[in-house]
Amino acid sequence: MSRIAIVTGGTRGIGKGICQTLRDKGLAVVANYAGNDRAAAEFTEETGIPAYKWDVGDHEATLDGCKQVEAEVGPIDVLVNNAGITRDGTLHKMTFEDWNEVMRINLGGCFNMAKATFPGMRERGWGRIVNIGSVNGQAGQYGQVNYAAAKSGIHGFTKALAQEGAKFGITVNAIAPGYVDTDMVAAVPKPVLEKIIAGIPVGRLGHADEIARGVAFFVSENSTFVTGSTMSINGGQHMY
Ligand code: CAA
Repeated sequence: MSRIAIVTGGTRGIGKGICQTLRDKGLAVVANYAGNDRAAAEFTEETGIPAYKWDVGDHEATLDGCKQVEAEVGPIDVLVNNAGITRDGTLHKMTFEDWNEVMRINLGGCFNMAKATFPGMRERGWGRIVNIGSVNGQAGQYGQVNYAAAKSGIHGFTKALAQEGAKFGITVNAIAPGYVDTDMVAAVPKPVLEKIIAGIPVGRLGHADEIARGVAFFVSENSTFVTGSTMSINGGQHMY
């Protein structure tokens, strides 16, 4: 039987690419999404992958949602924490709500999803968790104290949980994508984005499937000794 993978924020952008790539690798994939019903319906129609709606920033909703997935599809062995939002603005213009929503969803979502799925992985002695961080969590980004802090937090979360999962056969790794041609990046003002692209040695935005192939590596049997690791996929924008 195929292992079951859940991808949060899986119906659009990078998440959609991850869903399709994992499905092509033979996993039974389930997408989660929070808001855009039309995009989710189109996604399911196009891919045949079921989409379940809840807000990963809501603790109880996440526990209930994962319970429903496990009852209807089966035990979740692979978790990809991809869901994320931006509320960009310089600190002096950023509201507490802009700060809190990004922390609640981008970082809190990882905690909530892990709380829902990690116990089952421990019991079964196998699991794969891949958290989607960001180049902006590694390097910072003007106008993103909230997003950079949350994404940087994801990298710390990954390394801590990797230590807890290791003896139970659970690996926990992160991808730090650079700028990828998604709706999120399309929302960056054009002149700002042009400057950012000029600073990417490869000279272009990434594509969702280029991030998804990194996720597929962490999920596969090719990475059994890899845990607590961060793979940067950013066209050379940030190297260290
Ligand atoms: N470094 C230093 N100064 C900068 C700067 C930078 N990187 N970017 C802008 N500034 C300066 C500008 O030159 C300007 O200065 P002056 O007034 O002296 O000319 C000042 O800051 C104000 O800049 P803006 O006009 O841009 O200010 P704004 O309030 O209209 O917008 C902003 C600020 C919302 C942060 C806007 O610049 C912006 O959207 N930036 C892009 C942020 C970004 O990259 N977000 C990534 C989203 S995608 C994503 O997050 C995915 C991922 O993981 C990679």
